[in-house]
Amino acid sequence: MPLIELDRVSFSYQSEETPVFRDFSMSVDKGESLVIRGDNGTGKTTLFRILNGLSFPQSGSYRFDGTEITAAWLKKQSNAKRFHKRMGYLFQNPDVMLFNATVFDEIAFGPRQLGLPDPETETRVRDCMALFGLEPLAEKAPYHLSGGQKKKVALAAVLALNPEVLILDEPLAGLDRKTRDQLLALLSELHGAGKTVLAATHDDALRETLQARTLELAEY
Ligand SMILES: Nc1ncnc2c1ncn2[C@@H]1O[C@H](COP(=O)(O)OP(=O)(O)OP(=O)(O)O)[C@@H](O)[C@H]1O
Ligand SMILES: [Mg+2]
Repeated sequence: MPLIELDRVSFSYQSEETPVFRDFSMSVDKGESLVIRGDNGTGKTTLFRILNGLSFPQSGSYRFDGTEITAAWLKKQSNAKRFHKRMGYLFQNPDVMLFNATVFDEIAFGPRQLGLPDPETETRVRDCMALFGLEPLAEKAPYHLSGGQKKKVALAAVLALNPEVLILDEPLAGLDRKTRDQLLALLSELHGAGKTVLAATHDDALRETLQARTLELAEY
């Protein structure tokens, strides 16, 4: 059984006439890596929203680990919690993700939500800050950071949850060369350790590093 399975999904935004997806099917096995490509507006971000349970197909189905993910199923708190714990989602625009008063709290938010004890949360936050040299920014307000710094904080916040699936929307965009190389190495390590990685990117380096399968989205 695939870990992620879309079966003949159709999706349109309310205000729009043209659908983003029509009878679209895809599946991803546990531990697989997949790079999603496609021109601007072909639906990469929309696909990720569906996979994360933020948008729902008008027809067709989305199954995660055998369970159909619907708005009704996610309404139940315990379901939503279990589901989101397994999925880490890096938004294309990190501004959407950052809302805590400090960088430390931002990265600690997920582990606290999961109910981890304070010492373990602290360890995870320190470890994840160290991945991208964020320690000097710990007490800064995320909304005052530069674009690249925000991206690093958002990534650290995703990784602090240690999710089994990483869904990354343009993870390399806006990063300097050093951070980019660190992230490539890190993702390769995580994938090697068995994580399922889905990334929307136009950057061939990520596909090559992860030896990922490519899914090309086209416009309708
Ligand atoms: N909230 C929204 N309401 C209405 N239409 C939307 C909305 N978000 C996206 N769209 C439309 O849906 C289509 C797919 O957009 P989406 O953001 O998924 O593309 P993308 O492949 O991620 O593009 P990019 O490479 O620019 O990030 C586009 O035609 C876009 O205009
Ligand atoms: Mg996008």
